[in-house]
Order: sequence, then C-alpha cells, then structure tokens
Amino acid sequence: MIHLAKPWIGEDERRAVAAVLESGQLVQGALVERFEQAVAALLGRRHGVAVSSGTSALQLALKALQVGPGDEALCPALSWPSPAHAIRVAGAKVRFVDVDQGEWNSTAEALREARSGSTKVAIVIDQFGNPARAQAIREALGSLPIIEDAACALGSRFASGPCGSLGVVSCLSFHPRKILTTGEGGMCLTDDDDVADKLRTLRNHGQLGGEFVVAAGNSRMTEIAAALGLSQLQRLDEILGRRRELAALYAKALGGALDIQTTPDGAESNYQTFGAILPQGFARKSVCEELHDRGVEAGVLSFAIHKLGSFAGSDASLPIAEHIATRGIALPLYPQMRNADVEEVVRALLGVLDA
Ligand SMILES: Cc1ncc(COP(=O)(O)O)c(C=O)c1O
Repeated sequence: MIHLAKPWIGEDERRAVAAVLESGQLVQGALVERFEQAVAALLGRRHGVAVSSGTSALQLALKALQVGPGDEALCPALSWPSPAHAIRVAGAKVRFVDVDQGEWNSTAEALREARSGSTKVAIVIDQFGNPARAQAIREALGSLPIIEDAACALGSRFASGPCGSLGVVSCLSFHPRKILTTGEGGMCLTDDDDVADKLRTLRNHGQLGGEFVVAAGNSRMTEIAAALGLSQLQRLDEILGRRRELAALYAKALGGALDIQTTPDGAESNYQTFGAILPQGFARKSVCEELHDRGVEAGVLSFAIHKLGSFAGSDASLPIAEHIATRGIALPLYPQMRNADVEEVVRALLGVLDA
C-alpha cells in the first residue's frame, strides 16, 4: 500500500527524544526555546512561541489580538476547519470567503469585498503549502490585521519572502501530515513584542512574570516535541527538495488530464498535499475505494467549512470551495516515496478514471 503521508523519522530523531527522556526535563524548557529561535530565524521573525498544535496557535493568535464577541473575522471557506472553529471559539463571527479556482486560496479582491465594518481580522491561509498572494492581500486590506494560517506552509515562499512572514501573527502546525513534525505541535510567529508576551502568557495558564494575570489554559509544547522538531529541522531542505521533485512528477503526469493547484508567479510551494480535482461523473468515495484496491491510499482533499455540521444553518454560497471540497482528491506524497511510487499512483488513478 502506498500511504497518503508518512513522517520521516530517523536515528537522529530517536536519539534526540531518548536524550530528553533520560534528562528528566520533559516540559517546556531549553529545547523549546531553541526550537522557537531556530524557526523564527528561518522565517525572519522576531519571536516564535511554540504551542501544542496549529489549532492552539490560531486560538491564541485570535485571543492575543483581542478578537471576540461582536467582532467578525474573514476566513477562507476551503480548509481544514481549524481556523473557522478558532474564530467561533473566540466568540466572533466567521465571514467565509471563496477561493480562487486555480490557486485554491482566497484572493485579495475576494477578501476586500468580504470585509465589513465589524471585520476585526482576516485569516489568510497558504492552502496545502501554496503561498497566498501576500503583497496584493496586504495592499487590499491596508491596516486590517492578518493572521496567516501557514499550518501547511513551512518552507514555502511568497514572491516577497517566506510563508510565515505575512501575519501580525503567523501560525504553523507540526502535525505528522505537515512538512516537519513534533507529533502534535504548532508555533505562533510575530514581530510584535507585546503580542509575543500575550501569546506566552496565554499558552501558560495566564502567567506573566510569576503572576497569574489572565484566565487561560495550557497550550505548552513538550521538550520531547521540541527535540523532535529540532532534529527534523536539520533535514528540512532535503524534505522540501524531495517533495518538489515528486510534485513535479505528478504535475507532469496529471496536469493535462486533471485540474491541479497552480502556484502564483515567483512563489514556491512545499507541496504539503498534492491534490487533483476529479472530472464530472466520478464519485470520490468510489474512486478512493478502487484506488485502495489497487494499493493506493487517497482521500478527501479539503472541506467547504460552511457546509459542515459545526456551521449548520449557514446559508453562505461559495461555489468554488464547494466544488473543490466535493471533487478534490488528495494523493500520496511524502519524501521517502520513490519516483516509481508516483508512477504507480498515476497509473492506478488514470486506470480507475478510464475503467
Ligand atoms: C490550514 C490548516 N490550519 C490549521 C490546521 C490545524 O493544525 P493542527 O492539526 O496542528 O491543530 C490544519 C491541520 O491540518 C490546517 O490544514
């Protein structure tokens, strides 16, 4: 079976985790701080604040920017539900924004049009690692704060700089399906000292300088996770290089036959997920079942969040997100795959569509 995704864990990771277990210092300590500094330096940000997941990163970012009841936040309609759920959890209203047919991200124009008098913040997603059009979005939104959901986008680049550099707060995920993993984990990145203090307070029971200054939960990262992350960072370039090679093979083989995600000129994706849109007349569930019978794991590409049960009652109509959510299929892509595996997946998929 060729799996959809597989984290790349080697001897270095095993040794690093074992060393933490032997040290007895298991929760947030020196390794978390080193990991934060390494990621922040890589992305050219002043502060990295490591947390327990990408979802926690989004929740804390909204809280640090004081988004709450009475506010509205813009959010792309096509995604894993975390960003929209985080807005709801903050008590604010989600204003869903449709995505571009080719790039699968919300455009500057769509975000500008969706903005209203009560919009407090815009969440911008680099979907599947494909960079959003950062410069145009910044210009379109002016002084409106942006939270960049770069959960999938470590190592991707806008034409103007690394993904993870767009938001007042940019959020990463280190879930095993992401570019590098800490098991569960995430990070907020910011250049704002005050926001960074708030994030550090909010992740740690509301503590600042030994005082409990606000009621907050525990979203800390463990030393075990940070040790994994630091080891994984050593192989980031290798991971990115291999993902790009594999994605290029897919694009060459499938690009003429199926719609695939396009990347803005001058930008570079990390291909966190490689997706394709099934033609009319094919039901994704049965295509995935037939692929499974041929030894290939494939799955749902993404969700039209406004159509999920958690947003029952939403009357929003966002046709491109709905189209991609209905017809999009995620294909196997992870750095240990061989070129022959990609050929096998392509053969199986085209075989199912031809049958
Ligand atoms: C765009 C996006 N944002 C946020 C998340 C949440 O990250 P985590 O699973 O680390 O909570 C994901 C996870 O898939 C995601 O795809």
